Amino acid sequence: MSASKRVAVVTGANKGIGYAIVRGLCKQFDGDVILTGRSESRGQEAIKQLNGEGLKPLFHQLDLDDVASIDRLKTFLQTTYSGLDILVNNAGIAFKMAATEPFAVQAEITVATNFWGTLNVCKKLFPLLRPHARVVNVSSGASNMAAKKCSSALNAKFLTPDLDVAKVEQMMTEFVNSAKDGTFQKKGWCESAYGCSKIGVTLLSFAQQKEFDNDSRPDIIVNACCPGYVDTDMSSHKGTRTIDEGADTPIYLSLLPENASSPKGKFLRDRKVLSWP
Ligand SMILES: NC(=O)c1ccc[n+]([C@@H]2O[C@H](COP(=O)([O-])OP(=O)(O)OC[C@H]3O[C@@H](n4cnc5c(N)ncnc54)[C@H](OP(=O)(O)O)[C@@H]3O)[C@@H](O)[C@H]2O)c1
Repeated sequence: MSASKRVAVVTGANKGIGYAIVRGLCKQFDGDVILTGRSESRGQEAIKQLNGEGLKPLFHQLDLDDVASIDRLKTFLQTTYSGLDILVNNAGIAFKMAATEPFAVQAEITVATNFWGTLNVCKKLFPLLRPHARVVNVSSGASNMAAKKCSSALNAKFLTPDLDVAKVEQMMTEFVNSAKDGTFQKKGWCESAYGCSKIGVTLLSFAQQKEFDNDSRPDIIVNACCPGYVDTDMSSHKGTRTIDEGADTPIYLSLLPENASSPKGKFLRDRKVLSWP
């Protein structure tokens, strides 16, 4: 493999929306597409299915909750491609409505994967991004809904003009700590572990674009998006969209042309920028 060959990475891609993002990128992206998943066997099974459609993604193990696993992916990308052109942070979890775990447990586990896991992948892989790279953070409309249920004081913090990654990290730490000591509502948060974790993902995207705007590598763009309500395991197959419909906006954002002036550091659904929250 040539060290300068272009490469795309999709997280949580052995099933659901991530799987469809890989399928779409295999058809539209001029480079290798790496399907990642935390389970080697589920990942290889997904590769086999896509091979059956004549598509040739590659598999690499990646568990967002395991820093050593992120390091191994980084080393693989560095040695094989010397860089990264597309990163789709799609992997995520959500407790079911009927889950019996206490809110504090749900908050800690959900934020650990959806926010800290995604952030750790970004921190490790961003140094590999080449000029014109595209990053897509798959967030959710649940982030808007949750933010609207949070206090106006918290909303002012979400929208502060000097928002940066450290401030978003601090907010997520405060959310989980307050879920643990039972003060989360007093501190302005709402009772949605998933929604609040995705507030973190959306705000992170806004803050990351500010960093890219000051990066010496030109034209790196990050956006957050909602795939819509999609028929996957996460939605208990109640979602009304197919996985390919859910993958449409993430793929569109992954393939924004060189030097696109917009969207940049925005939150989108159906290829349209939405005001947030
Ligand atoms: N479905 C919807 O209606 C909807 C709506 C809005 C936003 N979203 C977002 O869209 C994204 C994809 O969701 P989906 O509906 O496709 O869900 P899904 O079918 O449950 O797939 C989730 C994927 O994430 C992976 N994953 C979970 N934890 C991981 C970890 N620690 N490390 C690596 N991979 C991990 C899963 O792997 P395993 O197979 O190993 O569990 C799976 O591949 C998520 O970020 C979700 O929040 C979905």
